[in-house]
Amino acid sequence: MKNFDSFWMPFTSNRTFRNQPRLLERAEGVYYYKPGGEKVLDLVAGLWCCNAGHGHPKIVEAIQSQAAELDYAPHFNFAHTAAFELAEQLTGVTPAGLDHVFFTNSGSESVDTALKIALAYQRERGKATKTRLIGRERGYHGVGFGGISVGGIPYNRMQFSTALIPGVDHLPHTHLPEKNAFSRGLPAEGAYLADELERLVTLHHADNIAAVIVEPVAGSAGVLVPPVGYLKRLREICDRHDILLIFDEVITGFGRLGAPFAAQEFDVVPDMITTAKALTSGTVPMGAVFVADHIYNAFMERPGSAIELFHGYTYSAHPLAVAACRATQQVYAEDGLFDRARELAPVFEDALHSLADAPGVIDVRNYGLMGAVEMAPDDGAPGARGMRVLQAAFDAGLMIRITGDTIAFSPPLTIEAAQLEGAAEKLGVVLAQV
Ligand SMILES: Cc1ncc(COP(=O)(O)O)c(C=O)c1O
Repeated sequence: MKNFDSFWMPFTSNRTFRNQPRLLERAEGVYYYKPGGEKVLDLVAGLWCCNAGHGHPKIVEAIQSQAAELDYAPHFNFAHTAAFELAEQLTGVTPAGLDHVFFTNSGSESVDTALKIALAYQRERGKATKTRLIGRERGYHGVGFGGISVGGIPYNRMQFSTALIPGVDHLPHTHLPEKNAFSRGLPAEGAYLADELERLVTLHHADNIAAVIVEPVAGSAGVLVPPVGYLKRLREICDRHDILLIFDEVITGFGRLGAPFAAQEFDVVPDMITTAKALTSGTVPMGAVFVADHIYNAFMERPGSAIELFHGYTYSAHPLAVAACRATQQVYAEDGLFDRARELAPVFEDALHSLADAPGVIDVRNYGLMGAVEMAPDDGAPGARGMRVLQAAFDAGLMIRITGDTIAFSPPLTIEAAQLEGAAEKLGVVLAQV
């Protein structure tokens, strides 16, 4: 392998990578394999995706046979039946009342789709002034212009600052290390941070606000678990002011927290849920936006027969993705993987918190099979320690995810307790060396 210039790698220091490439050749179960055959335990489900593990035979078979039967079908004015069947199947897993699915190809597309539906819905019901969108600091909602505008990760916005969409505000993030460090599960302090939404309503008036979008557990900014009562309070304020609430469940969707969705786990039902990643266990790109009945009906009850929503993708409900998704959902159900995530959560929690006293660790947090170990940054070089740990862990046969100096974990739901405990031990050695 000599040419590292042609493939411009995403969210990567390309110039650093070529000096020390971390290459993966194949995957099976909870392991990746390097080109030389050395195994690497996958502690992030690829990139928060592969909840059913890698190479599940039923999913592989479904994709292979679909490719041979129907390679592609357009969904503008035509459709293949399996797409309708899948949509119905999926709405059996979502919270009651979220009974409609708009298919996309990624989390970013799901987010931009949900934001567009929110704006179009407000117009559709005669509230055309409700146009403002509210995101949250440290939120990650993908890389579309809508997503980076409501997102709250400074570097993801900075290079494109002149093109961010107007009329967007941000709630404060919920990370309060001075009060909540080393929390197990939901941190106790911080529900009051939801009240900032009231302040924004006072400032702009509810007549001008379309929707609020948050990740129930913020993932990419380093696994920020919501304080007890926070999400319920957001829902109440949205209800009070007739504002839509969107949960971005691109990471939390499909069992990561034990329930199918965070909405069920935290007993807070939003008006839309955005998903991708584990929808197909990462096997074929696919996203989906789950939409509440009242939103869908507002479009469908309109007189006439014009197109209701001027939006969609060539690959919405691509047959390979549909086949992968149906098989994945079947595997989740048959193998009881969401229950398994719930059962493993205490082992995962103990494994992560066993690193609390490792050198440099300043916080450990977790919920379900999602967690983080945060390290103090090197003086004047944030992120440098994180990259050293990433490399050392990879050399030791562990795949982790790094955001700044925080190690994020989201193992496949198929992982074994002993593998989690063994990984924590190995990582303890890595942290002591780096
Ligand atoms: C919460 C959330 N939303 C959106 C996205 C974007 O998804 P994608 O990379 O598939 O566009 C991600 C990706 O990590 C995510 O975590």
